[in-house]
Amino acid sequence: MGAEEERPTAGTSPGGIEASGAGLGEISPPAPCVMVIFGAAGDLTHRELIPSLYELASKGLLPEPFAMVGYSLGDYDDESFRDAMRKSVQEQCSFREETWRHLAGGLHFVAGDFKSEDGYRRLSKRLEEVRKQRGIPDNVFFHLAAPPPFFGPIVEHLDASGLARAEDGWRRLVIEKPFGEDRSSARELNGRIRAVFDEEQIYRIDHFLGKETVQNMLVFRFANPAFEPIWNRNYVDHVQITVAEDLGIGTRAGFYEETGVVRDMVQNHLLQLLCMTAIEPPVTFDASSLRDETVKVLQAAEVTPFDPERDAVRGQYGAGTEEGRDVVGYRGEDDVDPGSTTPTFAALKLTLDNWRWEGVPFYLRTGKRMKRKLTEVAIQFRPTPHLMFQVDDRDDLSGNVLAFRLQPEEGILQQFVAKQPGPTIRLRSVTMNFGYATAFGVEEPPRAYAWLILDVMEGDQRLFARSDWIDHAWSVVDPLIDCWESSAPSDFPNYEAGSWGPAASDELLARDGRSWRAL
Ligand code: BG6
Repeated sequence: MGAEEERPTAGTSPGGIEASGAGLGEISPPAPCVMVIFGAAGDLTHRELIPSLYELASKGLLPEPFAMVGYSLGDYDDESFRDAMRKSVQEQCSFREETWRHLAGGLHFVAGDFKSEDGYRRLSKRLEEVRKQRGIPDNVFFHLAAPPPFFGPIVEHLDASGLARAEDGWRRLVIEKPFGEDRSSARELNGRIRAVFDEEQIYRIDHFLGKETVQNMLVFRFANPAFEPIWNRNYVDHVQITVAEDLGIGTRAGFYEETGVVRDMVQNHLLQLLCMTAIEPPVTFDASSLRDETVKVLQAAEVTPFDPERDAVRGQYGAGTEEGRDVVGYRGEDDVDPGSTTPTFAALKLTLDNWRWEGVPFYLRTGKRMKRKLTEVAIQFRPTPHLMFQVDDRDDLSGNVLAFRLQPEEGILQQFVAKQPGPTIRLRSVTMNFGYATAFGVEEPPRAYAWLILDVMEGDQRLFARSDWIDHAWSVVDPLIDCWESSAPSDFPNYEAGSWGPAASDELLARDGRSWRAL
């Protein structure tokens, strides 16, 4: 973690909080600061940001002192905002009154419009008061959890109101995804932001990078001598990246109708997983080396762009069942256009033109309302060149697979072939399983967002996308978006809720003599 200043070390935190989480190792809380959330009345604040602050507080990892000032349209005052947040935390976290009270005392709300000068004046005044009251130095980070069209205007108002400049401390900016809606709009947005903040102050967040297993993919490869030598085209047959969700779009129709699966999931989460899988060893584990290498993965994907007609499949869920209950199709969801052509599923085949991965396909798929919530990266190794044992059907042996499971039950699975007990040599595929909970006794590790918020407080940019990464990621997916937006699908809805997606997604792999893993 890139500390900039001297920090208090963890000890007994106020509120009777455990000083460092069991199994999480010794960590010190960062220096005092204020978080300002734009969009504090919105879904992300309820679902992720405040529960993350609570989880940090309960592990003794929140700065002391600390405050959060929320800014948004809404009828809240401090008290009613705290009540609403309390409910979210109670629903999602193991709740302790004492910890909550300690956190809640530092939560404030300022009602205002993202484009109102008066609103920013009031925000600035309140920020000053809160800092003085709690004795917090001029360290402030702004988390833009507002709808993406407001990102540019918010940054410009931060500039005009003077909030973007620190008298004697630091300013940082956290921006949610999607960053832009294609490469040219991302460049334009980046230009507007860079006119106010330096790249070192900007944290483009992708919460997948905060998931333990994603970071463990790097540790697994680069801290163990056994795997890196086989991590290449000589041993790897292909890679499958699956991000399946069982839920539909819930109450997010307004956002999703505009965004669709490619901008919501592929351009960011799936491409980050691709990069973490295919990355070359960075020289050091600092933000610059690590991010240089992830950009190179995308550059390798751009050499021979995939053909959207041939190498990609889109889908939209129809009605079906989820956990035994009937659910409506996408077009029947609240506030969705009944003739909507927005894709909720995508599968694609990418190749990386570089020395390591030449000829190895990377199959990516993601969708809403699929059979179960499951995220994994699976490395399928090549079969043995010669099998001296008698087997009835070689296809029954799914061979060596190494799977990084991001959720549920984070861990690593190694599938290999073993002899079935008995007098004759019979072969079976079996699985060896490493799970975080059992190995480290961390039943409830803080959520990905919590780690990333902590990184922002620490000034550590390693797990945040740099502007050039965003640029290349759009280059990879822009042709797909153009192709899909210029030709309306004739077969939507084309997969049933509660299934593994459209049949064409299976055909994409079947053409290459492969199939998706049975999950
Ligand atoms: C978000 C997307 O970034 O990630 C959502 O906007 C998606 O549509 C979510 O549901 C998935 O995150 P997780 O951590 O639940 O897999």
